[in-house]
Amino acid sequence: MERLDKIIASTGRWSRREVKDLIRQGRVLVDGYPAAAPEEKADPETARITVNGETLEYRRYTWVMLNKPAGYLSATEDGRGPTVLDLLPPELQRRGLFPVGRLDKDTEGLLLLTNEGRLAHDLLSPRRHVEKVYRARVTGCLTAEDAAAFAAGLVLGDGTVCRPAGLEILSAGAESVALVTLREGKFHQVKRMLAQRGKPVTYLERLRMGNLTLDPALERGDFRFLTEQELEALRNLERLR
Ligand code: URA
Repeated sequence: MERLDKIIASTGRWSRREVKDLIRQGRVLVDGYPAAAPEEKADPETARITVNGETLEYRRYTWVMLNKPAGYLSATEDGRGPTVLDLLPPELQRRGLFPVGRLDKDTEGLLLLTNEGRLAHDLLSPRRHVEKVYRARVTGCLTAEDAAAFAAGLVLGDGTVCRPAGLEILSAGAESVALVTLREGKFHQVKRMLAQRGKPVTYLERLRMGNLTLDPALERGDFRFLTEQELEALRNLERLR
């Protein structure tokens, strides 16, 4: 059993303050009866809770897709500057969300945040080989030899051996653009791989993680909750491995 205000605020749609007001105004029903107080307890798994006549979809865990802008650290706290948590409203900040993996401060695009530790951990596990797709802009002309070197598995300057990776060249010239597909996540990996080929990255954006694609409707800096289908797909991905 949990407090009603906590259950309702956990959806991220209303703050605790707003939930209190909704309850006082009689707009929250539990199994058909108006809730008496924010402290009232209910079983979130079985109670039918409606807010303004709409049935509440309770989720034990929160999963958020963020379109990360440059300038934010993929951390929950950091003295060195704003973190991706600063892009979320206070009621979500209080839910104990953390980023699922890291994007560099200057990297943009798809970042998941959750408070479901186990699934997040499994998705990141090197044994899972979850695909990550990045769009990279580099200085220099990307060639078929670069793609072949990625496919063969690059060895970085410090001896780090990379798994075979995809390099799909979208445009080549004095500046080139390519899609890079990795099945692992070493520190600064895309930048280090392209630097190893003598083509330093000038811009990097993540577009996909497993079967989750960055929602084109999300502006930079915006977030949305994962849909039930997206979460189910993530869980299936995890089960299949
Ligand atoms: N590879 C990088 O170099 N940076 C990122 O942020 C992600 C992958």
